[in-house]
Amino acid sequence: MKDLVRLKTSLSEEIENILNEQVKIEGVSSSKYLAMASWCGEHGFENSEAFFMNQSEEERKHMLKIFKYIADVGGKPFSPEVSNLNHEFGSLREVFETALEQEIGVTRAIHRIVEACRKANDYTTEQFMQWFIQEQIEEEYIARRIVELFDVIGEDTPGGLYMIDNAITKVTYAGGVAAESAA
Ligand code: FEO
Repeated sequence: MKDLVRLKTSLSEEIENILNEQVKIEGVSSSKYLAMASWCGEHGFENSEAFFMNQSEEERKHMLKIFKYIADVGGKPFSPEVSNLNHEFGSLREVFETALEQEIGVTRAIHRIVEACRKANDYTTEQFMQWFIQEQIEEEYIARRIVELFDVIGEDTPGGLYMIDNAITKVTYAGGVAAESAA
């Protein structure tokens, strides 16, 4: 039965598996960001809450993009299980540092997929993954810039956390041109 299924797709089992692992990574990221949004809302950081709600939605879109690709090329995508989410953080800085670590982990996972594609001569999937490589530049950039705000503004100065929560809304990525919007 399995061989029959294999005849329907040029996708190797190895690449299908690694793509399904990425579906899970993106799904877990989406849920982790939602947990971060919960913490931020609970502690009065409304802009950070909105930021993580939006990030959660972005990660879900990434998950669905890979999920649909697996299906489109004749593979079988799996809806990932997500459990044991952390909803407790020591500080707003810790939340954003965790987010940055997560993004760096996602970038590395995407690079591993491309590496596997090259070994398997899977040019189709390698090309599909190019969008994610580009997307990760933005995702990492924004998370890194926000973490830097904690030192630039100073979280221990009076009103510092309030200012950081406001400044988060102005961090954007303009494709290689640093841009904190003037709004
Ligand atoms: Fe889908 Fe933020 O990586």
